[in-house]
Amino acid sequence: MASKSLTGQLKDQLIRQALEHKLKQAEAETQDVNPLALNSDIPENWYRFDQLPGFKQLQIIYKGGEQFGIASPFFRVHEGIAGATTRINGKEFINYASYNYLGLSGHPVVAEAAKRAIEQYGTSVSASRLVSGERPVHRQLEAEIATIYGVDDAVVMVSGHATNVTTIGYLFGANDLIIHDELIHNSSLVGAQLSGAKRISFAHNDYAALDKLLSQQRRHYQKVLIVLEGLYSMDGDYPNLPEFIAIKQKHKALLMVDEAHSFGVMGKRGFGIREQFNIDGKDVDIWMGTLSKTLAGCGGFIAGESALIEHLKIFSAWVFIQRRNAPASRSVCTIGARAA
Ligand SMILES: Cc1ncc(COP(=O)(O)O)c(C=O)c1O
Repeated sequence: MASKSLTGQLKDQLIRQALEHKLKQAEAETQDVNPLALNSDIPENWYRFDQLPGFKQLQIIYKGGEQFGIASPFFRVHEGIAGATTRINGKEFINYASYNYLGLSGHPVVAEAAKRAIEQYGTSVSASRLVSGERPVHRQLEAEIATIYGVDDAVVMVSGHATNVTTIGYLFGANDLIIHDELIHNSSLVGAQLSGAKRISFAHNDYAALDKLLSQQRRHYQKVLIVLEGLYSMDGDYPNLPEFIAIKQKHKALLMVDEAHSFGVMGKRGFGIREQFNIDGKDVDIWMGTLSKTLAGCGGFIAGESALIEHLKIFSAWVFIQRRNAPASRSVCTIGARAA
């Protein structure tokens, strides 16, 4: 492909700068405001979805894409099973966007087992598993995951992304530190944001940089969580896990490893980075993974010691009301009497 002319590059740069400027403006609108004067109008962007900063940011991104001649890549309709290739609008494409690593999604044995389970248990527990009860397949799946990681127990949740958000958001708070590889997935970042903990990143796979940071920072916080991925999906490399374990032990921190892309493809039997390095599963405090990649389903898991899994199972769903140190102004109160 011919490289762009100087004016073409300049135009791209100008569009990019204009976009960044508009996005910053839209973001600035999310900042806190003081209470309004008694007689003033309530601004439209406090009660209209089309005026909310997130919606405006999206329009800016779409417009920018149009200027670069790029259509929205989101929510494309694929007409078959996700594999090395895919079909969109009747046309075959090479598929770089999904992770059916072992071809289990669409595999006849998996499809048959899913059909049998549906016939036996229906398609839902018809409420939350917490209160309405679970089915034997839930227990079997969690026990199998715990065995693979060599830990006491595991819990599966309904989304991989939400597993990170919920777990990190629930376990950590304003007195804690979350320290992560600079390439960590968005779900861990959102979890850290929800937790209210201080967040710092270190250079990709650089355990010496992490050690140095912890030497400076550890004593300013209560709990410290280090978050890594077992295999980085976009770069295809992985951390030197034994080195990271030694550092977390030295600083009395907790270590979480996101196995979204290592489970199923790393190690002799595909049991992930634990198998790759032949380490004791208990040396990692929180094993996390998704069910949507190799496992051909939907959801996520956390595996670890019983004390972690037991209270995650019961309390993590209540993360928002459990949040300690929430500013008083944000707490919920009821005004007035309930009708008899
Ligand atoms: C490293 C990592 N963690 C978590 C997730 C979220 O998993 P899911 O897409 O199953 O919600 C992803 C998704 O791509 C991921 O790449």
